[in-house]
Amino acid sequence: MNRSFLFVPADSERKMKKAGDTGADALILDLEDAVAPEARPEARLMASEYLQGRQNVWVRINALDSEDSAADLEAVIPARPAGIVLPKARRAADAVALSRCINELEQQSGIERGQTRIIVLCTERPEALFTLHGYVDATKRLFGLSWGAEDLSVAVGASANRDEQGNWLPIFEMARSLCLLAAAAAEVTAIDTVFTDFRDHEGLLRYAANARRDGFSGMLAIHPAQVDVINAAFEPSPAEIDRAERIVELFEANPGAGTIGLDGKMIDRPHLIQARRLLERRKHTRNQ
Ligand code: COA
Ligand code: MG
Repeated sequence: MNRSFLFVPADSERKMKKAGDTGADALILDLEDAVAPEARPEARLMASEYLQGRQNVWVRINALDSEDSAADLEAVIPARPAGIVLPKARRAADAVALSRCINELEQQSGIERGQTRIIVLCTERPEALFTLHGYVDATKRLFGLSWGAEDLSVAVGASANRDEQGNWLPIFEMARSLCLLAAAAAEVTAIDTVFTDFRDHEGLLRYAANARRDGFSGMLAIHPAQVDVINAAFEPSPAEIDRAERIVELFEANPGAGTIGLDGKMIDRPHLIQARRLLERRKHTRNQ
């Protein structure tokens, strides 16, 4: 299960070395915003070397309409990343175009077609927000959708994206919700964005707990200290597990029932689906 995705700048040997010991479920080696343009050629080589034989390591390439993306892909696909994180997507067609580029590179490298998955940062450009339904059936490689507030802030000319209490301002709250809805429509994972205040662990815990409540299955991290907090927040509580088990048992004991009472509340089929999903998720986490 992918609760935490830790970003690691691919030009930093020190951080890459450290990343494996953080307990992150997945790593994202960054070739984009965390790496200066002149450092990218070297960072590509370092990323490719780091990928050798490692599981669940992703690479964030540069935007598809940048000069860097082709070189990024050529460098890393042969090293078999779990997948590519695509930033600044304009629409789902970008993910389809990326998938075609990967087809070719997988073939050249003797990698089974479709192995390399795609996560799209689907809200970084304003125009992208108007076409989010396009991810439905766009490409089988699509693994998940995530979103970003920083680039969107710049694009709309906003001087802040959170209010004084740290809550998202309306535009960014909307982008977050649309990402979640688009992922649900496309039947892929929704991954919440980074919490940039990396010393505020209490704030992160609250944020991540809300992300799970809202339907996100994981979250992006930028600092090793965020990983345990995120992993814990995306773990269901014993009380939730207990309740889910009781719901499943209740329906099993009453096979013909559409709706049942539990602790004075109505329980029906959607609750059963939810309970099964929660128990399934827990099984995956345990089996890691
Ligand atoms: N992955 C792995 N190791 C990391 C790390 C990361 N994302 N962020 C920090 N570390 C390491 C540091 O190298 C340091 O290790 P050291 O003690 O061996 O030197 C240790 O963790 C503690 O780091 P700290 O001093 O608290 O933070 P910092 O000032 O060095 O770094 C950031 C702060 C924000 C620059 C850094 O966390 C970072 O680069 N994050 C990722 C940024 C990124 O990829 N952004 C793109 C997506 S938004
Ligand atoms: Mg960015």
